[in-house]
Amino acid sequence: MASLQEQIQQYELEIKAINIANAAELEDFRIRFLGAKGIVKQIFGEMKNVPADQRKEAGQMLNSFKILAEEKFESFKSLQVDTKAKCPAVDNTLPGTPLPIGTRHPLRVVENKIVSIFERIGFSVATGPEIEDDWHNFTSLNMPEHHPARDMQDTFYVSTDPDWVLRTHTSSTQARILETEQLPIRVICPGRVYRNETISARAHCFFHQCEGLYVDKNVSFADLKQTLYYFVTEMFGENTKVRFRPSYFPFTEPSAEMDISCTVCGGSGCNLCKHTGWVEILGCGMVHPNMLRNFGIDPEVYTGFAFGMGVERITQVKYQVNDLRMYSQNDVRFLRQFQAIT
Ligand code: DAH
Repeated sequence: MASLQEQIQQYELEIKAINIANAAELEDFRIRFLGAKGIVKQIFGEMKNVPADQRKEAGQMLNSFKILAEEKFESFKSLQVDTKAKCPAVDNTLPGTPLPIGTRHPLRVVENKIVSIFERIGFSVATGPEIEDDWHNFTSLNMPEHHPARDMQDTFYVSTDPDWVLRTHTSSTQARILETEQLPIRVICPGRVYRNETISARAHCFFHQCEGLYVDKNVSFADLKQTLYYFVTEMFGENTKVRFRPSYFPFTEPSAEMDISCTVCGGSGCNLCKHTGWVEILGCGMVHPNMLRNFGIDPEVYTGFAFGMGVERITQVKYQVNDLRMYSQNDVRFLRQFQAIT
């Protein structure tokens, strides 16, 4: 068997004779001689078998063999494929990949609009919890237990405890504000409300309302009418007419419902107004004295008005959305139509 020294000499001759033509051959060379299981490593491993007196000489030979292999590799290194250079050139001037941008939900657009109209005349925004207790949702609003008006709103109870409900209207926020804020009060209260209704084009188990409340000395029904008239002209345009019809709400006296002239036909009759020329958009009235008393406010000194409107209703009237379910179906073809108005 050839000695280690002879083996090295053999390999050295081989290395000197090798011609490396391309990247693949260079890689083969690297693996054969310099790789983790290559010849250089292998011979280093055999050093331990060399008799001690020859070890120094063998070591020197092995080192120069290693250097020879490395130099050969280095001298052909330019053949190595530069993976970076192979990448296609990047053109930084090309436009980027567009990210799909969402749109504001139509109900949010309309809610924002309602809020900003009232903010301009001094109302500030207040919000309240969606899980409400009986006192704030009913009793304090002049609807004691067994009051028939409670049946007007099909209530979801949060548990078997009848004291906890999903609020059926944003009037509950009115109650919370009267309880905690100093007079005079002028707030607009947007939010989601819940009722146990079968879902259809015209009803949903959750929807959105905006409540308004103004309590001060000398607040009159004329103030209420003028405030709502201002709102209507801002929201639906100057030529919109309003009318008030007497109505009933337990928390207001007198109470009214407000209609506006139909935004589609202008009053001549169409499907939206059911050929009456008018569409109902909100309920309102003068805050009931009992309600003021419930919060320690003297109705002989202070008076107030309140109103509540459905955001879906306002959106339907303004943008002719004819199916309530569309608001929660998340169909982008519907939602994108509101892009321009956001
Ligand atoms: N809370 C009523 C409802 O849900 C709406 C309403 C009517 C609110 C008259 C008011 C109001 O503040 O004065 O139908």
